[in-house]
Amino acid sequence: MNKKVKVVLGGKWGDEGKGKIASRESKDADFVIRGTGGANAGHTIVFEGKKIALHMVPGGIVYPQTKCLIGQGVVVDIPVLLEEIKALEKMGVPDVKERLKISGRAHIVLPYHKALDELYERSKKSPIGTTKRGIGPCYADKDNRIGIRVYDLMLPREKLLKKFKEAILFHNTLLYANNIGIFSAEDLTHEYKLYGEMLSSMIVNGDVLTREAIEGNKKIVIEGAQAYRLDKDYGDYPNVTSSNCVTGGTLIGSHIPYSAVKETIVVVKGYDTRVGNGPFPTELKAYKKEDYLDKAIFDSKTFIGDLIREMGHEYGATTGRPRRTGWFDAVMLKSAKYALGADYLCINHMDTLGKIGQEVGYIKICTGYLYKGEEIDYYPDDIEITEIEPEPIYTTIKGGWNVSSDVRNYNELPKKMKKVIRLIEETTGIPVKYIGIGPDNDDLVVRYNEI
Ligand code: GDP
Ligand code: IMO
Ligand code: MG
Repeated sequence: MNKKVKVVLGGKWGDEGKGKIASRESKDADFVIRGTGGANAGHTIVFEGKKIALHMVPGGIVYPQTKCLIGQGVVVDIPVLLEEIKALEKMGVPDVKERLKISGRAHIVLPYHKALDELYERSKKSPIGTTKRGIGPCYADKDNRIGIRVYDLMLPREKLLKKFKEAILFHNTLLYANNIGIFSAEDLTHEYKLYGEMLSSMIVNGDVLTREAIEGNKKIVIEGAQAYRLDKDYGDYPNVTSSNCVTGGTLIGSHIPYSAVKETIVVVKGYDTRVGNGPFPTELKAYKKEDYLDKAIFDSKTFIGDLIREMGHEYGATTGRPRRTGWFDAVMLKSAKYALGADYLCINHMDTLGKIGQEVGYIKICTGYLYKGEEIDYYPDDIEITEIEPEPIYTTIKGGWNVSSDVRNYNELPKKMKKVIRLIEETTGIPVKYIGIGPDNDDLVVRYNEI
């Protein structure tokens, strides 16, 4: 089988810069695919100075030779998708509607999924902190075999109405009992038939497209969404998303066989972030802005968590929520290596990490865990039972660095940055091939021979 597929996946809790790398990798690609998640993803790309946060469309759309597919594993938020197409057209991206295809087998996120997402979150003692984009309820309907698929929008009105009636029967009972408005199958049918007409030219059999691409020896890029610790099996259950966003699930969602994969790139940042609730061993205490606004001098040693957030602009691309921040956890990434089948690492925000080091006076990398009195090199999966989080063992590197986003040659990177890269490679066992030194698609150093 032709091996021309590059898979880009998140190594931590999301927002590692997957969108930027997948988009950059699409510069010379023929075909770009999103395979999991929905509008919970927010993938920021900066293309030729123009910034856009994409939720549904693969970032490779900005390169005019690409064909893009929203795969069968994605849950499609149609209003968000239509907005995004408009925004891309406004940015000057050519032929968006002609180049973008949607698998007819992908499921649709409906307004009642969002209402249910809100309700479940509200009724939990420990909410997950979901993006409230209806992701969990939509995937649950898919598993319950009452989901509405993109192909269903092509059905005669009566058949779609019947499907909607079945789908909302129990949901409406629950919503009504909780004093939330109920949904009308007639109204939904009317609205979604119109959406179906708008999207009809884009709806395809994804298998045929990917087969043609593989047999035609085309370069294919898969843009993963979410990340290792948000995967519903590998991650911090229940503080996860509702899909398998590691390699296996991403390939199924993208209509791609494993045997066609050439390279799996796992993306991380020089520090870690998380939005939503759940464990975060290297988290740095963050304060509210009011806590330090009255301080005459911003004390960067006390407020490292906040400093990282401000320096890295760590606010959610989907919800705008401030992201929790912490030092880079290399042990967790060692655990991710096999879950993700990682061939190479991409470390983004190495420019930001250097600035943090300069400001704080040092950088810390977690290279071991202390857990139940023992040193371990894997992420434990019984922390809910033991009620202890692994305690990070840090390696400290003094100072930081400044790096120009124009550097393209690995040998020209600051010595200290290379020391951090070597430390991460030694701890994780994954070679670092890509180094992000700025938000633009091209702010990237690629190591070809130095690995
Ligand atoms: P994704 O969800 O994994 O695609 O990542 P997000 O777009 O949610 O968050 C990544 C953020 O980091 C975005 O604001 C990017 O513009 C920014 N970014 C990505 N790589 C770099 C980098 O190397 N340096 C800097 N300074 N910013 C970066
Ligand atoms: P990208 O692709 C960061 C998190 C939410 C929440 C949990 C469940 O941009 O990296 P959900 O709405 O999926 O049911 O929420 O998962 N989450 C993300 N966090 N980046 C994402 O996507 C995320 N997608 C979901 O914050 O904790
Ligand atoms: Mg994101």
